[in-house]
Amino acid sequence: MRARVFPDYEAMSAAVADVVARRLGEEPSSVFMLPTGITPLGMYRRLVEMHRSEGLSLADATFFNLDEYLGLAPDHRASYHVYMKENFYGLIDADAARVFVPDGTAPDPEAECERYEEAISEAGGIEVCVLGIGRNGHIGFNEPGAPFDSRTRIVELSESTRNINAADFEAERAPQRAITVGMATIFESREVLLLASGTNKAGAVAAAVEGDVSESVPASMLKSHPNAELFLDEDAASDLGRGVAG
Ligand code: GLP
Repeated sequence: MRARVFPDYEAMSAAVADVVARRLGEEPSSVFMLPTGITPLGMYRRLVEMHRSEGLSLADATFFNLDEYLGLAPDHRASYHVYMKENFYGLIDADAARVFVPDGTAPDPEAECERYEEAISEAGGIEVCVLGIGRNGHIGFNEPGAPFDSRTRIVELSESTRNINAADFEAERAPQRAITVGMATIFESREVLLLASGTNKAGAVAAAVEGDVSESVPASMLKSHPNAELFLDEDAASDLGRGVAG
């Protein structure tokens, strides 16, 4: 797993956006898996800018999101449906028929997970999977302990993740459960780009890069991936090489 360290968040975001744009240039109908959170916002901003001022078209691409809270309606302001619409899909020329976000209010959530996994297969699998990382090393909503052979499924969120994500909710607590694409689904992507920014991710990054490959640090799975790359700003890379990873 190669790690590229950039002087700051903007430089990191621009570099990831360039990789995405290059893949679209090579193959306009590429299939992407995309994350939510604060970290990818700079990448989305840059891609929107490329669409508006440099003629980048995303109309033939297919997009899958990594996860969604269980029980949140697609129009709930903290839902990942709304996040993606406001920060990306609603600002580019994406084809709505090729945009997929798990439905957190599906009447049969198990069937929704199966449907989602099938849609990914039908699209020919994921070409480029972009990931953020949780402070506990989670990817998507695959919390520590998530089996490496897991598929799209319903998961319980850890207290720490719910507390951190509380910032997206007002009086309510973050939901207790979510739908997430599985570890095996992520692993089968032809290329994985993991983004991390800020000192509060430094420990998780060091554990993933320098610790053992272990289900207790989900992102460490990427060390076994043939084509995974980390995009870090200097703060997120600040624990690397210090021998602090467990
Ligand atoms: C959430 C998302 C993850 C994301 C993580 C980190 O839990 N499900 O996909 O990577 O938060 O988010 P942030 O970039 O805001 O730190």
